[in-house]
Amino acid sequence: MTDDFPLRDRVSMVTGAASGIGAACARLLAARGAPVLVTDLDEEGAAEVAAEITAAGGRARARRLDVTDPGAMEKAVSEATDLGGELRIAVNSAGINGPLKPLGAYPVTDFDNVIGVNLHGVFHALRHQLPAMVAAGGGAIVNLASIAAHSGFRDHGAYAAAKQGVLALTRTAAREYGGSGIRVLSVSPGLVDTPLVAALPPGATDGLLDAVPLRRPAQPEEVARLIGFLVSDDAAYLTGGDHVIDGGYLAK
Ligand code: NAI
Repeated sequence: MTDDFPLRDRVSMVTGAASGIGAACARLLAARGAPVLVTDLDEEGAAEVAAEITAAGGRARARRLDVTDPGAMEKAVSEATDLGGELRIAVNSAGINGPLKPLGAYPVTDFDNVIGVNLHGVFHALRHQLPAMVAAGGGAIVNLASIAAHSGFRDHGAYAAAKQGVLALTRTAAREYGGSGIRVLSVSPGLVDTPLVAALPPGATDGLLDAVPLRRPAQPEEVARLIGFLVSDDAAYLTGGDHVIDGGYLAK
């Protein structure tokens, strides 16, 4: 018999949860029984996702959180316990694209911003989520990386560098905290049908789908289902690895 609520009572937090992959993860974790702290820079969007979860019978609370603010991260992680227990699951999905420019023309401030959100943001999250999970006696964390970390990506130099850094932080955290019962993993999506991609300038993804054997972008729910598996007990022996979900884009 399968358990309809395999994540029952496992307090969870999701960053970047107002939109796209983060929102899909928040909904899926809640549907599987986890109380979810829905965090985002976009406070209104986070509140909408939390309200939707509550209306569907799940447990959720929304909170504004800028992942570049270490103090706010510390507070958010400690407030997760208000959901009824210690933090057991985290999905770090907050991310930005930055401008599309070749490295020779990439503005320094934009480089810093992209690294600030996509890499430092994950560091700030881990820095507080890991000790919280040590206190909880174990847990699972999934960080959003990207195929850009694997292949490099034209006009996305800062983004690719940040995502490669996310892989390194993930492996390091897995080595450091495996003994405390904490699994740390990353997921590298290819093209996913979210507002992040919709906001790219016209033509930015031209040709990309031709290189995807499945010939379509992923839906955010497909990425969330992979993440839902990774944080579950079915993935109890997985840690430190990156899990590519790209419709075959990186296949050689
Ligand atoms: P999205 O744009 O739909 O959602 C990202 C969320 O992050 C937004 O709600 C935004 O408000 C929030 N955010 C931005 N800056 C923030 C900050 N400083 N603090 C807190 N929240 C902040 O994007 P999507 O597509 O759901 O992306 C989620 C993650 O997946 C990102 O890390 C992205 O790099 C990664 N990814 C997305 C792919 C795609 O094709 N959509 C492909 C590969 C990776």
